[in-house]
Amino acid sequence: MTIGLEGDALVTPTVAAIDVAAERARTVGASGRHYFNAAGASLMSDAVLDAMIGHLRLEQRSGGYEAANLMVDEVAGVYTAAAALLGGTPGEFAFFDSATSGLRAVFDSLRLGAGDTVIAPRSSYISQALRMLAMKRYDGVDLVVVPNGATGAMDLDALESALAAASGRVVISAVHIPTSSGLVEPVAAICALGRKHGAITVVDATQSVGQLDIDVLALGCDALVTTGRKFLRGPRGTGFAYLRNGVLDGLGGWAPDVRGSVWTGAEEWTMDGSARQLETWEASVAARLGLGVALREAAERGMAATESHLVGYAAGLRDDLAAIDGVVVADPVASPSAIVTFTIDGLVSKQVSAALRLARVDSISVPAGHAQWDLGARGLASVVRVSPHVYNDDEDRDALLGRVSEIAAEVTAR
Ligand SMILES: Cc1ncc(COP(=O)(O)O)c(C=O)c1O
Repeated sequence: MTIGLEGDALVTPTVAAIDVAAERARTVGASGRHYFNAAGASLMSDAVLDAMIGHLRLEQRSGGYEAANLMVDEVAGVYTAAAALLGGTPGEFAFFDSATSGLRAVFDSLRLGAGDTVIAPRSSYISQALRMLAMKRYDGVDLVVVPNGATGAMDLDALESALAAASGRVVISAVHIPTSSGLVEPVAAICALGRKHGAITVVDATQSVGQLDIDVLALGCDALVTTGRKFLRGPRGTGFAYLRNGVLDGLGGWAPDVRGSVWTGAEEWTMDGSARQLETWEASVAARLGLGVALREAAERGMAATESHLVGYAAGLRDDLAAIDGVVVADPVASPSAIVTFTIDGLVSKQVSAALRLARVDSISVPAGHAQWDLGARGLASVVRVSPHVYNDDEDRDALLGRVSEIAAEVTAR
């Protein structure tokens, strides 16, 4: 949501309210449970599921290739829907089966080697952190992990110093929102510093797409990678990347595939200059069409409205959880996102999640092993993570808070 100054007054644009009842009506999983795991995999709408089942039936009747041919326009529409939601052009999007495969493809195609530098935040996700550590160990890439400032977000002065000292080609592996807390990193400022120092910035937006109002052009990133199943409410097995036109120019291409390459002679080939060069031919067309529906539903609902609603709902949860005896909210100060993390004194997070599940409240325990540079560095073995979406109502909130209060009271009474 963009907040601007008009005259002397701070103007917050009015955003439409979210129709929670309508979202629940089109989300079968919203009834019967209190589902707070959008940051794991959120609940799909009926239309997302229908699009997938419809295509699977078409494949069963017509054959997989023939079904895809019948749906060429619809598949192209998924690229258009991604650009409509996030900015950029359809040709700047490539689709994968997860955020991790997207990040791998982007980083592999950047071809970093000995003497080059990757700069990373403490909020890095396990798969990307281990990938960068492997690049350091096996390829001689210099890896710099930037410290946090007082708010828990990346220290921008430290980033600037790291950029100034970096050698070779420099890539910032930025994170928008981590797996391990509600932190929102200052990605626009990170990208701006990257540009100033001639670095390429790749943003891991796995937890922010579908949750925050994002415009890749306003962020100023070179690439942005996300998954379909989390706040976007798409199906599992989907992910995609925005790759600014020209970012890979001169790098020669990586892992050419029939999807984005032409084999022109015995030892010759050409590659599609667009983001498509990162894709593989084989993919689940059904899942991709489901993702297209989720992208359009997010845009129709409105991302400014969604962001404002989710951030507000989560802020209420954080306040109410903090007021319960024995509960410690674990989010850093810079946490205006819809991921809420906490611990209960005397219990490990897995026990808390299991106890919540008995009351049909779905949360998840995030172990330090998923975020060593964050949770590990903060001395937290694990945290309970709750992540609401637009289908969560007041009853869900009351069920969560009521059960957490009971669990905390049971520990105190021991
Ligand atoms: C911040 C962040 N980045 C990347 C990933 C990996 O996403 P995927 O499982 O789609 O590869 C996750 C998954 O939880 C994540 O939270």
